[in-house]
Amino acid sequence: MSKAIRIHQTGGPEALVFEDVTVPAPAAGEVLLRQGAVGVNYIDVYHRTGLYPAPLPCALGLEGAGTVEAIGDGVTDFRPGDRVAYANPPIGAYAERRVIPAHRLVKLPDSISETQAAGMMLKGMTAQYLLRRTYRVQKGDTILVHAAAGGVGLLLCQWAHHLGATVIGTVGSPEKAELAKAHGCHHPILYRDADFVAAVREITQGIGVQVVYDSVGIDTFERSLDCIKPLGMMVSFGQNSGKVPPFDTGILAAKGSLFLTRPTLMTYTAARADLVSMATELFDVVQSGAVKVEISRTYPLAEAAQAHRDLEARRTTGSLVLLP
Ligand SMILES: NC(=O)c1ccc[n+]([C@@H]2O[C@H](COP(=O)([O-])OP(=O)(O)OC[C@H]3O[C@@H](n4cnc5c(N)ncnc54)[C@H](OP(=O)(O)O)[C@@H]3O)[C@@H](O)[C@H]2O)c1
Repeated sequence: MSKAIRIHQTGGPEALVFEDVTVPAPAAGEVLLRQGAVGVNYIDVYHRTGLYPAPLPCALGLEGAGTVEAIGDGVTDFRPGDRVAYANPPIGAYAERRVIPAHRLVKLPDSISETQAAGMMLKGMTAQYLLRRTYRVQKGDTILVHAAAGGVGLLLCQWAHHLGATVIGTVGSPEKAELAKAHGCHHPILYRDADFVAAVREITQGIGVQVVYDSVGIDTFERSLDCIKPLGMMVSFGQNSGKVPPFDTGILAAKGSLFLTRPTLMTYTAARADLVSMATELFDVVQSGAVKVEISRTYPLAEAAQAHRDLEARRTTGSLVLLP
């Protein structure tokens, strides 16, 4: 027996139940993990509410780090005792122990703790593909990052700053503005008080930005398009305020032949070679000190519901981690 946080039905944070589960032995190609730390991500809220369907009942969570306890037949890349991390389906990270396919794991460098890994694997590999592949940020670019003090946001700001970009970021409070600024955001904008389109126009002297990274969704999507220079890119990668409604692509023409993409980490990490190279690049920027993983709060695994409440109430900054 082992403990996990599961949902039996979709709903609010109260749907999260801390309970005993049976953990099977690892099947062929699988690994049994004892988890030291588990990442909390906004996608966990979408699974909990049913916005993204999950098979019920299920343990939530897509990100964790721990030690290999046992391996199934055919696993050659990992051995019991290895420290590993992951940020992918199958869902089920909110657990003390779990089985997971070996080909979705990466080995953790000695200098990166399990808690740090749980705070950065999913958000950090997301920052990697957004900045390095979806739109390849160049020195001299000006970019806009929404929710710049959030989990993905703080990583995007630091990494883009490191790449030589000028970073404009939206934030929900003066404290978040200070935090974003301390993490590479040159121009924080308080988007609950100020018109962020006007602010971006002023900062860029009417030119606009090369790319917008928008995880806020319905509240910011349309106005974000007014921040982009002709031939620039709109990257809509999340929906914390609600799903973006169906969209007339003619608007992209009218606003300057813009590119629009709705990417997911799962597509970018689908091939194991990509997963490994993305994780390696993330470990490199973290080990070099260019990007710091800000874990603003840890919670006992049993208190996952409180982590969800805090995340949804916009009370958090950086990454949240559950400790089994
Ligand atoms: N597509 C992908 O591959 C991918 C991968 C990872 C994450 N994501 C997405 O990226 C986003 C960020 O994820 P995260 O885990 O790092 O979370 P997060 O950014 O820390 O999310 C919380 C923050 O979102 C902002 N927010 C704006 N409007 C909100 C609203 N109506 N309700 C709640 N929060 C609101 C708040 O910041 P302010 O107070 O500053 O507004 C809040 O503190 C999520 O949408 C997630 O699904 C996508």
